[in-house]
Amino acid sequence: MNDSLVQLKNVNKHFGALHVLKDINLSVGKGEVIILLGPSGSGKSTLCRTINRLETIDSGEISIDGKLLPEEGKALAQLRAEVGMVFQSFNLFAHKSILDNVTLGPRKVLGKSKAEAEEEAMALLAKVGVDSQAQKMPAQLSGGQQQRVAIARALAMKPKVMLFDEPTSALDPEMVNEVLETMVSLAKEGMTMIVVTHEMGFARRAADRIVFLADGEIVEEATPTEFFTNPKSDRAKDFLGKILNH
Ligand SMILES: Nc1ncnc2c1ncn2[C@@H]1O[C@H](COP(=O)(O)OP(=O)(O)O)[C@@H](O)[C@H]1O
Ligand SMILES: [Mg+2]
Repeated sequence: MNDSLVQLKNVNKHFGALHVLKDINLSVGKGEVIILLGPSGSGKSTLCRTINRLETIDSGEISIDGKLLPEEGKALAQLRAEVGMVFQSFNLFAHKSILDNVTLGPRKVLGKSKAEAEEEAMALLAKVGVDSQAQKMPAQLSGGQQQRVAIARALAMKPKVMLFDEPTSALDPEMVNEVLETMVSLAKEGMTMIVVTHEMGFARRAADRIVFLADGEIVEEATPTEFFTNPKSDRAKDFLGKILNH
């Protein structure tokens, strides 16, 4: 596919003897929302981390917007700006205000002025519904609010693609929806997204495509309707049986 924004070709990755990504081929189109599902330990986090090169790969190719991932240096810093990532743990800078958390990257990496960075940060904080908290420190916010700040912080770098690795798994249940709603509106605006989640309602609703991983392999790729109503592989049937029947 030529208009793919993120492309992985024959990607292999080992941790010692463990073959954690097995010949992964995946093409994510511009504006597409991919939901990565799979049992614990199947390689979902590792796959996400290779896309912004938090993990190196042993063989294969990964490209973003037609450019191969750079090895190091300035080009790698640039790539990291293009690929936004939100993790399970909120990892905001604890000793910086919410506003400073969001303006830091644009000022340091994109070279924006304080005034411009703050204006954009306030607009993004308003968009995720936490602009009234801008002067507070992270610890003063709820987990759901902190995770929405983490999303605003990633967006401030004007990423081409956003990676989410279980962004709601560490949240109290009543805060899960506010974060998922933020992600749904981002998807509606056309953001390209790769999301690892256990929120099956969200997966059904938001995914353009489900990619099911097991033991480091892409076992199945399907639309949400196909995947949830008619999974083809035994691995996917087993996985869905475990998570949907309780
Ligand atoms: N840094 C690491 N060193 C060694 N093994 C790792 C490392 N990170 C992950 N693994 C192993 O790789 C496999 C895939 O892990 P991971 O990508 O975190 O899976 P998932 O996110 O699907 O639960 C697991 O067996 C895990 O224990
Ligand atoms: Mg994981």
